Amino acid sequence: MDKILVHGGHKLNGTIRISGSKNSALPILAAALLTKEPVTIHHVPDLSDIHYMLQILASLGCEVERASGTVTIRAEKIITEAPYEIVRKMRASVCVLGPLLGREKEATVSLPGGCVIGDRPIDLHLKGFQALGAAHRIDAGNVKVFAGELKGGVVNLRGKFGPTVLGTDNVMMAAVLADGVTVIESAAAEPEVVDLANFLNAMGAKIEGAGTRRIIIEGVKELHGAEHEVIPDRIEAGTYLVAGAIAGEKVTLKRVRPEHLEAVTEQLRSAGYQIETSDSSMTIHGNGEPKSLQITTEPYPGFPTDMQAQMCALLAKNSGISVVTDTIFPQRFMHVSELKRMGADIELNNGTAIVKGVERLGGAPVMASDLRASAALVLAGLHADGVTEVNRVYHIDRGYELIDDKLNQLGAHIERVKVKG
Ligand code: EPU
Repeated sequence: MDKILVHGGHKLNGTIRISGSKNSALPILAAALLTKEPVTIHHVPDLSDIHYMLQILASLGCEVERASGTVTIRAEKIITEAPYEIVRKMRASVCVLGPLLGREKEATVSLPGGCVIGDRPIDLHLKGFQALGAAHRIDAGNVKVFAGELKGGVVNLRGKFGPTVLGTDNVMMAAVLADGVTVIESAAAEPEVVDLANFLNAMGAKIEGAGTRRIIIEGVKELHGAEHEVIPDRIEAGTYLVAGAIAGEKVTLKRVRPEHLEAVTEQLRSAGYQIETSDSSMTIHGNGEPKSLQITTEPYPGFPTDMQAQMCALLAKNSGISVVTDTIFPQRFMHVSELKRMGADIELNNGTAIVKGVERLGGAPVMASDLRASAALVLAGLHADGVTEVNRVYHIDRGYELIDDKLNQLGAHIERVKVKG
């Protein structure tokens, strides 16, 4: 298990390249199950979550080849039961359910438990499958979905915390091979859903409306092989924009889609930072302390829950009083107690953090608890005095390709230390 030591106070300057999106790549790789022909995916980030997904696909019978950022998958003969040992490591394994159900009319995956960011039910995924005519059974910790045949249907995927991203992906992947037309109402409109729909259409699917709240899918008999480039990771990009705000003089990101980051750039601009954008690059000027902000997470195009922790790290120092509310995962505030160990003044109340910017943060040993909380601790370390020791770094490696190398490339001073055991 590694730990990361962040030596605070170093200025960031320069250019880095943003990796392919984890949350796009995961369902896109799973979609390879929908065809017997090979698919080739470019810009697949080198992350532990991606390795788990490739292991799951291999265990389902896929031939998987990987050469740097390009993955080729051939799902000629597959089985429909994903092994618990790998599935339990990653909640996103649930997105093999849709393509297996679509192609083989049955799928079994172990039921994801809760995770530190909150309860993670899949009731909406199951509701969507049911609308296509599938039943489900929960047995010995596994969920099995099955259907004699899949028929297009109408389903509303809005839950009490808004639309579901992977639920929308799953239902879309099952519906592409169903008989007739499926309409998903209150669909998630995240860019990752659009990326998946574009890939499925390249495989011969007929999907319209991805990126809006209504997706219409006309089932086809079969899909064929295709080649696809995964979109840049907007959350990785957003995290480095916050790094630029915290410690940057001038930080430029290449291979980004600024239009996917509008809610984030709007908040950073309100906090006083100057951001310039072009078609595929963004530059932030870290000109001083942040002004206080009011942030509420919302489904896309609103402010992403996946950027909430990083903003708390920014606002923790010299910012006045900010109010940060997470409406999607109201329990997703594990970073708060760790930031407080670094001297932050943050009060938590029912999914809302009141962040009172302090004059000084101090390095401390802190514990990473989930991916974005861990990233927030590294960011906080950039403007803390002394050394911040972030333990349980495997959480960061789930979603950030070479975060220490990329920040060091900009002038940060970060060490990765191997810890035995
Ligand atoms: N929900 C339900 N029922 C369901 C599914 C979801 O009530 O059947 C609730 C969830 O508990 C949550 C809300 O609906 O309160 C939204 O959850 P969603 O289903 O959209 O989350 P997800 O699809 O499981 C993806 C990302 C998350 C990201 C969320 C929200 C992937 C692999 N994961 O999860 O990313 O936070 O959407 O945008 O795409 C991350 O990258 O750090 C991460 C956690």
